[in-house]
Amino acid sequence: MKTLIVANWKCNPTTLSEAKRIFDLVKKGVDKIENKKKVEVVVCPPFVYLSSFKFQVSSFKLGAQDVFWENPPAGGGAFTGEISAKMLKNLGCGYVIIGHSERRKYFKETDETINKKLKAALENGLKAILCIDKKSQIKNALKGIAKKQFKNLILAYEPVFAIGTGKPCSIEKARKMNFLIRKAVKINIKILYGGSVNSQNAADFIKKAKFHGLLVGGASLKPKEFVKIVKTM
Ligand code: 13P
Repeated sequence: MKTLIVANWKCNPTTLSEAKRIFDLVKKGVDKIENKKKVEVVVCPPFVYLSSFKFQVSSFKLGAQDVFWENPPAGGGAFTGEISAKMLKNLGCGYVIIGHSERRKYFKETDETINKKLKAALENGLKAILCIDKKSQIKNALKGIAKKQFKNLILAYEPVFAIGTGKPCSIEKARKMNFLIRKAVKINIKILYGGSVNSQNAADFIKKAKFHGLLVGGASLKPKEFVKIVKTM
């Protein structure tokens, strides 16, 4: 299994030129890494920058930070402001983050809408990264999703107290949660850790807490730091 390193830029940066600068530096840094066959890097910028990066990605994949739950046959429809899974797929996205705790908190996303978004993403061939903070969020989110689609499903354990605080979860607790989540899903899928990951602690979450990858917020906007994280893998 490849180690998956996902950059979640969240609502940053504010200009396309800055987005391009970060993207170019990350790309250059990742391109230079030798022996990166065992790592998959995914960059998830805000929707508005995705099309600018579509043709520039070679050494890593593009991802989105959210997707609309409706799955209209033509991939579009009368849903003002929304972005469908088909649009993301056609734009070259391979991944989409779903159910991030910030979306649950500020946009009142529920297990039900998250479940619908997961289905729309998986049905359109996107790899879906389901973010959870508690084990209890798994069951409803995965309701009605066929086991055969689990191959494109990734879980990300992101304890809310660790997000953007500079206080990551302890390796011991993270390792325990990783084990409990694995037991709850009963199937061998990738589980990532997210929350105040940096180049100092990244390797421990993989080697000691046994995660299959990382979901990186703040540090992913600092190209040098992000490339360092990828290198430690
Ligand atoms: P930070 O790495 O900034 O704590 O954010 C984590 C996160 O929410 C990634 O999705």
